[in-house]
Amino acid sequence: MNISIIGSGYVGLVTGVCLAHIGHNVICVDIDEEKIKKLRKALVPIYEPGLGELIKKYIKKKTLSFTTSIKEATKKTDVIFIAVGTPSKKNGDADLTYVENVARQIAESMTSYKLIIEKSTVPADTGNKIRRTVELNVNKKHRKGTKSQIEFDVASNPEFLREGSAVDDFMNPDRVVIGVESKKAEKILREIYKPLKPKMVVTDINSAEIIKHASNSFLATKISFANALSQVCNHVGADILKVVEGMGYDKRIGKSFLNAGIGYGGSCFPKDVDAFIRLSEKNGYDFALLKSVRDINKEQKQSFIKLIEEKLWIVKNKTIGVLGLAFKPNTDDMRSAPSIDIIQQLQKEGAKIKAFDPKASTTAKEVFKKITYAKDVYGAVKDCDCLLLLTEWDEFKDIDFEKLRRLMNQPIIFDGRNLYHDKNLEKMGFEYYGIGRGKV
Ligand SMILES: NC(=O)c1ccc[n+]([C@@H]2O[C@H](COP(=O)([O-])OP(=O)(O)OC[C@H]3O[C@@H](n4cnc5c(N)ncnc54)[C@H](O)[C@@H]3O)[C@@H](O)[C@H]2O)c1
Repeated sequence: MNISIIGSGYVGLVTGVCLAHIGHNVICVDIDEEKIKKLRKALVPIYEPGLGELIKKYIKKKTLSFTTSIKEATKKTDVIFIAVGTPSKKNGDADLTYVENVARQIAESMTSYKLIIEKSTVPADTGNKIRRTVELNVNKKHRKGTKSQIEFDVASNPEFLREGSAVDDFMNPDRVVIGVESKKAEKILREIYKPLKPKMVVTDINSAEIIKHASNSFLATKISFANALSQVCNHVGADILKVVEGMGYDKRIGKSFLNAGIGYGGSCFPKDVDAFIRLSEKNGYDFALLKSVRDINKEQKQSFIKLIEEKLWIVKNKTIGVLGLAFKPNTDDMRSAPSIDIIQQLQKEGAKIKAFDPKASTTAKEVFKKITYAKDVYGAVKDCDCLLLLTEWDEFKDIDFEKLRRLMNQPIIFDGRNLYHDKNLEKMGFEYYGIGRGKV
């Protein structure tokens, strides 16, 4: 099938490349000329395991190409995925400016049937808004009143991939959700995903849109639940790791996402929880549960900062080593990373920051102006008054703690991810603080 993807970011690029991998001819579009120039040379603008090899392979096979022209993509393909960003507005609403813009451009270039699919995460009713935008913007010669004379369908196909394992997630989905209004749209979407033999959930567009917001909000709720529990554990002297282990074996609860830490971040959970709260509010429901999820997430970072302030005593002029900046391991994505609030607050109080992240140093440089970037773990901790572990990269697990202790000014570790919970660091001469381990 001939498919185009508008927006070649974390989701659009992975979707495009994976659709080429399962046999489709794909055109990836982006407004960012530099990005498209690089992609044409198979230079991947993001860090995502496995993606680079596939891009090279399908460019060579000529089933994957890149352009900045929505017009060209619309002309050459009948199936168009919209995968542009839907960031938060100040009031928490999803900003759908990019989606509207793309829908308008597709409409202006349409001369034959198109299936326009929302891949971006959008609030319920966006499908209806896209349909209307297309009707109103289709070229005048193909329009009668407010009706397009060219047949088209709008569908929703939310994406559930996770950064860091995006290719694998796309190729092995737990389910594929499609929100459709016509048999034709359903048939095309089933055909697209057929090689993956996925569990398909077929529904109306509004329900598909809600499935995505509800899924992310539920996962955020699990994280905030674990974080709230970690606070109780601290106060009563219990161990969060044992508590969630004991809970997680229950199949009705499950272990995943029941981890206490420094809160969720990234480009999805914070904005999607906000957008879902706003969507509910606008439709007359006060989603108080999700408001608490959001508050707990903020408080969790504050309580980590408070712990550092308390144990370090004086923050001013202290040198703090940081391991991990990205919002989670295996990505270079810094969007809404918990490290941002934590580091900026400590800097405000006069701390000097030295940091190391295996992949996110370049993206982090756009966020933090005044930190020193180390080349490795030991460079980050040398002469530091304490160490913060903020992202649980695998390579941070097994480090030489003896060397670490020798290099640090003061052997104090604040482990924001409980990565070193089993390392007996106290016995090795460290002062060690995890999250919710009952010691505060
Ligand atoms: N990142 C994730 O893990 C993830 C997972 C599931 C769903 N989503 C959703 O997918 C959507 C995209 O997220 P992302 O992380 O890929 O965003 P992103 O910012 O990485 O990519 C968006 C891309 O769209 C491009 N763009 C903007 N306007 C354009 C236009 N008019 N024409 C062509 N390209 C244009 C931008 O240049 C950018 O490259 C969001 O709605 C997000 O919530 C993201």
